Amino acid sequence: MKEGLIQQFEGYGEVARDIEVCRKYGIDYTLEKGSVEKFINRLHPGRMTLRVADIIEETPLDGTLRLVPEDGYLPPFQAGQYITVSLETGNIRTSRPYSIASPPNQTGYYDITVRRVKDGLVSHHLLDGVKRGDVLICSGPAGNFYHNPLIHDRSMVCIAGGSGITPFMSMIQEIVDCGLDREVFLFYGSRTLEEVIFFSRLEAIAGRFPNIHFHPVIEAPPEEYEGLKGLVEGRFIRDVVGDPAGKTFFICGPQGMYDFCVPEIENLGIPRKKIRTEAYAPAAPVSNQPGWPENISPDDRFEIRIKDGKVFSARAGEPLLMSLEKEGIFVPSECRSGQCSRCRVKIISGKVFQPTGTPVRRSDRRYGYVHSCVSYPLEDLEILI
Ligand SMILES: Cc1cc2nc3c(=O)[nH]c(=O)nc-3n(C[C@H](O)[C@H](O)[C@H](O)COP(=O)(O)OP(=O)(O)OC[C@H]3O[C@@H](n4cnc5c(N)ncnc54)[C@H](O)[C@@H]3O)c2cc1C
Ligand code: FES
Repeated sequence: MKEGLIQQFEGYGEVARDIEVCRKYGIDYTLEKGSVEKFINRLHPGRMTLRVADIIEETPLDGTLRLVPEDGYLPPFQAGQYITVSLETGNIRTSRPYSIASPPNQTGYYDITVRRVKDGLVSHHLLDGVKRGDVLICSGPAGNFYHNPLIHDRSMVCIAGGSGITPFMSMIQEIVDCGLDREVFLFYGSRTLEEVIFFSRLEAIAGRFPNIHFHPVIEAPPEEYEGLKGLVEGRFIRDVVGDPAGKTFFICGPQGMYDFCVPEIENLGIPRKKIRTEAYAPAAPVSNQPGWPENISPDDRFEIRIKDGKVFSARAGEPLLMSLEKEGIFVPSECRSGQCSRCRVKIISGKVFQPTGTPVRRSDRRYGYVHSCVSYPLEDLEILI
């Protein structure tokens, strides 16, 4: 072989020999093409087909659907994450997120516990229309509401409201099943004692494990009730927990609870960055939110024109995403609470209401994108999907 310039570099001989050895005995990675993608899809599938293996009645308002995979495999998740169930009900193709209530160490199934919501479309369908053996199309696990041992304190103060207990059930079960070095003070706000989901299981866990403390807080308790009454106030937390410093706070429940509890916790001297929240439902109705224009009623209707597409009328008080779904227009969605940005649409003209604190990226704001799950029309709109 004629010697070129490159062959004259010092060390060329050794490198050339190594290449020769790798060619002869090494792995031919060209055969593995696509395997990384397959591996990632297995860990973070966009879509899963899950079968309802069992339905467990928890309280008169709530039921648990036990979901098993069709192919025997469930992706791992962090306790506190949710899956989004997509379905068709009342001729509307829509979706809703539900936190996984079972712990991550339970790899055979995911439990989702659904509370019946008055006039709710999907909660009623899941509790009344779904039977054992039915198949549900779900997203892979998602969300940021979990304990990260690198950032969060070992001691957690968890505040749940209504069905907002589900991510905490997953976290607590994982802690006790796996013997994790973590302490949990759980305050569970509920209207009545009968509506406390997982009551006997939580009591049994707290009775057995000294690092788990369970405190139901009941708004309308029976007369003889001796536990905490009313709403989850800061003074209850101080009395039970003692010094709240060095603890990370987690709140999950309806938006109204989070509006009440965050200032209560801040008044205990806890900085906002130590308080993590997951809002399950908007503080309805949207017209009561700060900034909603006085001259617009939630029942006012506006024309929505999709660029190069359909024109229809939508209620001001309904999220744009829901109005689009009612018209049979598909927009990808996941969290439906303004967090994940999957449902972005561009507002070409017109104005929408977005509740204070809706997290929209600066670049989205600049180019007119909004999260359609938390945007409400205030004028006729032209939009791009
Ligand atoms: C990340 C995340 C995880 C969730 N996990 C769970 C869970 O584990 N279990 C569970 O039951 N729900 C959970 N939810 C709420 C769930 O996604 C639905 O919003 C709920 O089931 C109601 O849906 P729906 O179609 O029946 O009601 P919709 O038809 O969407 O709403 C009907 C009316 O009820 C109000 N509303 C909606 N949701 C609630 C609510 N939760 N409480 C009170 N009023 C409400 C609406 O503002 C509207 O006025 C979660 C929500 C999020 C964002
Ligand atoms: S679906 Fe997540 S931001 Fe709208």
